[in-house]
Amino acid sequence: MCGIVGYVGERPVVDVLLPGLSHLEYRGYDSAGIALNMGSSMDVMKRAGRIAELESLVESEGPFDAISGIGHTRWATHGAPNTVNAHPHVDPSGDVVVVHNGIVENWVELKRKLEEEGHRFVSDTDTEVVAHMIGELADLPLVEAVRQVMNQADGALALAVMRRSEPELIVGARRGSPLVVGRGDNENFLASDIPAFLEHTREMVIIDDERIVEVRPSSVRIIDLEGNEIEPEHRKVEWDFEAAEKGGFPTFMLKEIHEQPHAVLDTLAGRITETGRVVLNELEMDDKLLRAVDKVFVLACGTSYHAAMMAKYAIERWTRLPVEIDIASEFRYRDPVVDARTLVIGISQSGETIDTLEAVRYAKAQGANVIGVSNVVDSALARESDAVLYTRAGLEIGVAATKTFTTQLVVMQLLGLYLAQVRGTLDPGAVELLVRDLMKLPDQIADVLSQSDSIAELTGEWGSVDDYFFLGRSGDFPVAMEGALKLKEIAYVRAEGYAAGEMKHGPIALIEDGVVVIGVATDSHVRAKTLSNMEEMKARGGTIVLVAEEGDDVGEVAEHVIRVPSGPDLLCTVTAVVPLQLLSYHVATARGLDDDKPRNLAKTVTVE
Ligand code: AGP
Repeated sequence: MCGIVGYVGERPVVDVLLPGLSHLEYRGYDSAGIALNMGSSMDVMKRAGRIAELESLVESEGPFDAISGIGHTRWATHGAPNTVNAHPHVDPSGDVVVVHNGIVENWVELKRKLEEEGHRFVSDTDTEVVAHMIGELADLPLVEAVRQVMNQADGALALAVMRRSEPELIVGARRGSPLVVGRGDNENFLASDIPAFLEHTREMVIIDDERIVEVRPSSVRIIDLEGNEIEPEHRKVEWDFEAAEKGGFPTFMLKEIHEQPHAVLDTLAGRITETGRVVLNELEMDDKLLRAVDKVFVLACGTSYHAAMMAKYAIERWTRLPVEIDIASEFRYRDPVVDARTLVIGISQSGETIDTLEAVRYAKAQGANVIGVSNVVDSALARESDAVLYTRAGLEIGVAATKTFTTQLVVMQLLGLYLAQVRGTLDPGAVELLVRDLMKLPDQIADVLSQSDSIAELTGEWGSVDDYFFLGRSGDFPVAMEGALKLKEIAYVRAEGYAAGEMKHGPIALIEDGVVVIGVATDSHVRAKTLSNMEEMKARGGTIVLVAEEGDDVGEVAEHVIRVPSGPDLLCTVTAVVPLQLLSYHVATARGLDDDKPRNLAKTVTVE
């Protein structure tokens, strides 16, 4: 997620912008930049890399007698993380500068239209298109120009815009991505996040969605996208700095669990059409090659391997291609059968896991075509793959994967449907139905998140429990595996994820009074069997908890049922894992453990 900061007032603008950007570093970024408005001129300075490099550039070019300025830290979602793609971006005149957080879903069409009118672009970003669009409306008041552009741009976006001729004005706009105003005495601040200006003021003005704000030194004016005046809502920030970084959540992990609706929205942005098709414009692998594929491998580790498990079900079900999945560290030692008609998908949120990289390298050496699925633009996996799909979850600081997992599931579902479209194995109507259900996921995840307190109460009964099983069949099996891993890695509890049908082949011997058995039963065509397996666990003393869809009859087997919104099999994996993430968080918290930095674990495993 990108960071935005803006300032208009009497302080030295650079001394507000650069520290403000530093306070947003926790959001993760790969480049940074600022624009300074002197009225007589507009200076834009930006650099790939750390903020320190930008500071050196600004120092070498300064001093500046700026009246206002905007700054940005960029977490690349598309377009390489280099200086050219860094924000701010300018219109052809250089008089309009824009910084942006989010994704303009229809930016390709908007760019093409401007190119047909003679516009030339220097970057690969959607933001530069927005700058050109606003620049085209030079005869309108800036707030009106931004309003008109917001009504043409689809998707989640937050903007900060300046025009050279109006140095005492910054215009902000918000749809989906956060934006907030900090109120000062004859000075005002604009930012994506409170930490950017918290050292200067605790007085805040909330910018709701679908709003545009004019920020001047002594005034803040808000309008909606129809141009109607909106009364500003003032708040006082009570958080300390660290709490502000976590958005008021106690830990980054819990914040990131709650970011999943927005993360999935970003993952879907620009990849599904109004007519219910999947479009993967960024997938640089031609359809002819994809049609020639006769076998798929999905390689990954840890949580990403659980996404691979779900991907196997989805791709086989929708494309009828045989799919093998491998724990990456095992793959190249089993002499797998790989050739030029093999498609290998490597899944890695960091894109740096050496086990996955080595497995992908081995497969490439055998002639396979590789698609990398990662959360980090230009990561090693991205660079070594023939094509890349990014999960766009934004930086994940918690060591335990949460939002990167659910966005991996969504990317693999998008890829499975895309392959089915290309290979003609699903009719357009079937694809459309599934795409429509994908679009419901952000709201459905939000529904589940509203149960966090009841899940905390449930886990409160398990303070002394040290023995858990997570069971599921078919699409529910990877969810069960992920639930067990979460509990292991952040609560240090022995938790087994197992295929529900496999328990009677041995592990059922471990079931006794006090063992908590969590069954995931959302997959409709195996639910009855999963429920009978849960009866077997109950009969042997297990404490039964179920994750099941709203409205499904799950009998009386469970002491507690956690309900998730109903949806098609496999897509339900995205919502069904959320209660298990919350459950592991609450158990770890009840045990006084640090869920952001669990013992023995690293966010990226770069050793074999
Ligand atoms: C996830 O919670 C774990 N921290 C770990 O299993 C992780 O999923 C695994 O190391 C793979 O990481 P990657 O997705 O960055 O490759």
